[in-house]
Amino acid sequence: MNSTGYDIRIDIQKLKKLPTLSYTAEKILNLTSRQLTHLDELVSIIERDPPIMSKVLGVANIVYLGMYKPITTVKDALLKIGFKALKNIALSISIFSLFKSSPEKEKSYKELFKHSIATGIVSQVISEKFLNEPSEDNFTAGVLHDIGLFALHYAFYEQFQKIEEAFRQVDSLKEAEEKIIGTTHSEIGKWIAEFWGLPEIVLEVILYHHDFPQKSLKYAKTVAIVQLSNFIAEQLGYYPFQVKKESEFYKERVYKILNLPEPEELILELKEIVKDVENL
Ligand SMILES: [Fe+2]
Ligand SMILES: [Fe+2]
Repeated sequence: MNSTGYDIRIDIQKLKKLPTLSYTAEKILNLTSRQLTHLDELVSIIERDPPIMSKVLGVANIVYLGMYKPITTVKDALLKIGFKALKNIALSISIFSLFKSSPEKEKSYKELFKHSIATGIVSQVISEKFLNEPSEDNFTAGVLHDIGLFALHYAFYEQFQKIEEAFRQVDSLKEAEEKIIGTTHSEIGKWIAEFWGLPEIVLEVILYHHDFPQKSLKYAKTVAIVQLSNFIAEQLGYYPFQVKKESEFYKERVYKILNLPEPEELILELKEIVKDVENL
């Protein structure tokens, strides 16, 4: 609880102010490649919603442009990048659209959105290109890691702004959050992920992305990838807040878990890819 005696956790835990998963997102989450009809269904769900469709194609083109010629239609995306990758991109975009808010909050929403997409793209490219371990789940985990911040921005905007203000004065975001709301966006994000039934890998990343990466975690590698990707996204100018302050990055530990080139080298390669986030 914070000094005013108001405990935001009660509001959030009851999810009084948070949106339930939209019909579209819920539907996408439950589609599986084991059922052939689900392939067509995924395409038609995305096509039915033009703003979501254009963002899905935009993200698919940024992530996969090096590998395939431009992806022009949703069907084309399904053929080129596959069911799981398309499903994961569509799921994250439809989740973000739930948190879209009023014009006066647009600027900070965009900041958060770009930070998230950039982190997801970096996670995906690192696993695909530098670790040689293609994993669509790393994209989803990367892109949704700050979902708790979206929730705060959407439902508790006053507190969101106060946290940003406090973050200027203290060492870490965690400290600012504890001071203002008595909990963190990682905890809030975890509750939402549980409530929505998001995959376990996403939940673990949401909860631990600012912590010292523990090797004992079930998804230690993905947690490390997302922490590094979050750092790289920030280095490329995509901060979640208007305050340009770096997040925790336990470099030594991350590099013990992941066998990768130095961050500077990764940043150099990723710069060109990530810059297209601006056009989304
Ligand atoms: Fe975060
Ligand atoms: Fe982040």
